[in-house]
Amino acid sequence: MRRIVIAGNWKMHKTQADSLEFLTGFLPQLEATPEHREIILCSPFTCLASLSKTLHGSRVMVGAQNVHWESSGAYTGEISGEMLTEIGVRYVIVGHSERREYFGDTDETVNLRLKAAQAEGLTPILCVGETKQQRDAGETETHVVNQIKRGLVGVDQSKLIIAYEPIWAIGTGDTCASEEANRVCWLIRSQLANKNVPIQYGGSVKPTNMDEIMAQPEIDGALVGGASLEADDFARLVNYQ
Ligand code: PGA
Repeated sequence: MRRIVIAGNWKMHKTQADSLEFLTGFLPQLEATPEHREIILCSPFTCLASLSKTLHGSRVMVGAQNVHWESSGAYTGEISGEMLTEIGVRYVIVGHSERREYFGDTDETVNLRLKAAQAEGLTPILCVGETKQQRDAGETETHVVNQIKRGLVGVDQSKLIIAYEPIWAIGTGDTCASEEANRVCWLIRSQLANKNVPIQYGGSVKPTNMDEIMAQPEIDGALVGGASLEADDFARLVNYQ
């Protein structure tokens, strides 16, 4: 059976104090959450250490939002895998569309980050997805397959999560129809050597559409931005029916 993984991507939101306040509201709502669902909070770097300390022994795992491919060196502003694992981080988002669009990540640097993350014992969440323009031009399939092929060269598929995030659906309230998201997730799976890699959907996932998304056979979880910022909303997502 494939794993179910629900991850919150806080992006550049929440101070340490905000993040601990979130937990006060969130953790009590996990009592009835089915055991096999993996729950991850991907916070800004500044919250990681205190989150992982507070969450030690709980079922909620901590993830970062980026990692550099070198283990140390003259890379001002970057963070290495070892720096993350030292403070209890177990997961890292790699190749989010915002990193690709605003910070110059390419399939090649994404590939380097994935391999470096795995070498340090982190499980990366590789993000792929097409723009509105690519979708309208009928290029969704080739674009996503290329991102998968180029991103995964030499990557261990036994320690990997993939998130399909159509860019036009991120933060727009415009969710991809669940059958369509399922179709692209199936296409991604068809490219993988390990068919058990969890494949998440991301892009305007909210309490009102989560049940429908999770009912799709190829979708194994969600990567959630906006709706992971409020404890009650995110609790509702991890407790989907
Ligand atoms: P959203 O973001 O849920 O706010 O659309 C998803 C993401 O960027 O991972």
